Amino acid sequence: MQCHKIVQILRQKAVGEKIVVQGWVKTVRRSKSVSFIDINDGSCLTNLQVIAEQNQTTDENHLKDLSTGCSLRVTGTLAASPAKGQDIELQAETLEILGLAPDYPLQKKRHSFEYLREIAHLRPRTNSLGAVARIRSALSFAVHTFFQERGFFHIHTPIISTGDCEGAGETFTVTALDLENIPSSTNLASVWDDDFFGCQANLTVSGQLEAEAYAMALGNVYTFGPTFRAENSNTSRHLAEFWMIEPEMAFCNLQEDIDIAEQFIKYLVDTLLKDCLEDLELFASFIEKDLFKRLKNVSEKTFIRLSYTEAIAELQKSKKSFKFPVAWGMDLQSEHERYLTEVIFGQPVVLTDYPKTIKPFYMRVNEDQKTVAAMDVLFPGIGEIIGGSQREERQDNLVARMNELNMQTSEYEWYIDLRRYGTVPHAGFGLGFERMVQFVTGMKNIRDVIPFPRTPGSASF
Ligand code: 4AD
Ligand code: MG
Repeated sequence: MQCHKIVQILRQKAVGEKIVVQGWVKTVRRSKSVSFIDINDGSCLTNLQVIAEQNQTTDENHLKDLSTGCSLRVTGTLAASPAKGQDIELQAETLEILGLAPDYPLQKKRHSFEYLREIAHLRPRTNSLGAVARIRSALSFAVHTFFQERGFFHIHTPIISTGDCEGAGETFTVTALDLENIPSSTNLASVWDDDFFGCQANLTVSGQLEAEAYAMALGNVYTFGPTFRAENSNTSRHLAEFWMIEPEMAFCNLQEDIDIAEQFIKYLVDTLLKDCLEDLELFASFIEKDLFKRLKNVSEKTFIRLSYTEAIAELQKSKKSFKFPVAWGMDLQSEHERYLTEVIFGQPVVLTDYPKTIKPFYMRVNEDQKTVAAMDVLFPGIGEIIGGSQREERQDNLVARMNELNMQTSEYEWYIDLRRYGTVPHAGFGLGFERMVQFVTGMKNIRDVIPFPRTPGSASF
């Protein structure tokens, strides 16, 4: 007999049908002759209640050993449930215990997220982390649907790279050298000559530069992959390994770039509101009571757009005393980003035209020569969720900017070639996938929206 997923069973409510279910026990209640077993198979948040009479176990396993965490296969008939809160239940005919779970660490009480991080291999079996995993999956699918429906091509950009796209010097080196046997006399530059790639290589911080090459051939492309930053930020919004979605569009300027970013975010939120209601309701009940209001706010309101210079003026006008005092030219801190989105505007804000001194080399320099065609999308509760820009498509300007920043232009000849041969105005952005998952679930710590978080001092599992 074919196995059924609980999500389907609860949807179809086929009373009288004989079915097989497999899953893990959430709770067991026993009366004299009957056990009530809540079983979950991960296909949805809701459990299926199984009613089992004492004689319905296989010979070698006994119902009395059944406890939270055990795995089961149950054959039985669906019946209308007399109990409150559920329409159907499963009257077991045979019940097979596949695996026992003595001393299971996840008991019915609520555990702290800190504790759950220590058992990251078991935490997907909790309601909240299971819901996060289903939402991540739905969101990832929606990312592809959004771009594919609009004619973008998915490009697999490399994970091992030799550049530092963001120029922040926060890369993880990739090496095959025997670190215990590097001749001490050799200088570091020549050490890499003997390394696997014949040069220093690192894990990518962004697929953007390679995506630009493909945008110059295919028009509109996107990459969606893991990115790595050895940034020593122990915050609730930073990971050393995170996933980023980076579209890159040929024949596109900054305003069009922002338009796509706004449509994209709204599409993701609307899709979840349509497809993941049950899981979102869990977060609205237990994590963030205003969740739906916040999601609708993003979905329905047009994002505010203002320049960095205007934002600085707004912050100064507020007279609020920030930990980092506000001055033109500074990089905005999360306290400033949150004040703009949470207090001044109460909705997402897109800031544009940042000082060139605080942005990477590839951004297009504006006519004032002081600012660049950058855009950051800032969200209430999160701060920066998207960073993007129109790219510098003028060869002379690009090279001048690289020289200003003391970059080795010889290492970027291929990137400069994109300006030498048929250059066009183009733009793109990067959405931090985990920050988006944080926003849609209300989860406070980014470590709880990725299966196995990598952060300073921690790469277990
Ligand atoms: O602003 P960033 O550094 O932009 C880029 O990497 C560009 N190359 C993107 C592009 O234009 N194609 O990063 C983009 C986004 C941020 O807005 C943030 O959401 C996320 O990536 N992000 C992080 N998320 C988690 N942990 C970190 N350490 C992150 N650093 C950036
Ligand atoms: Mg940024």
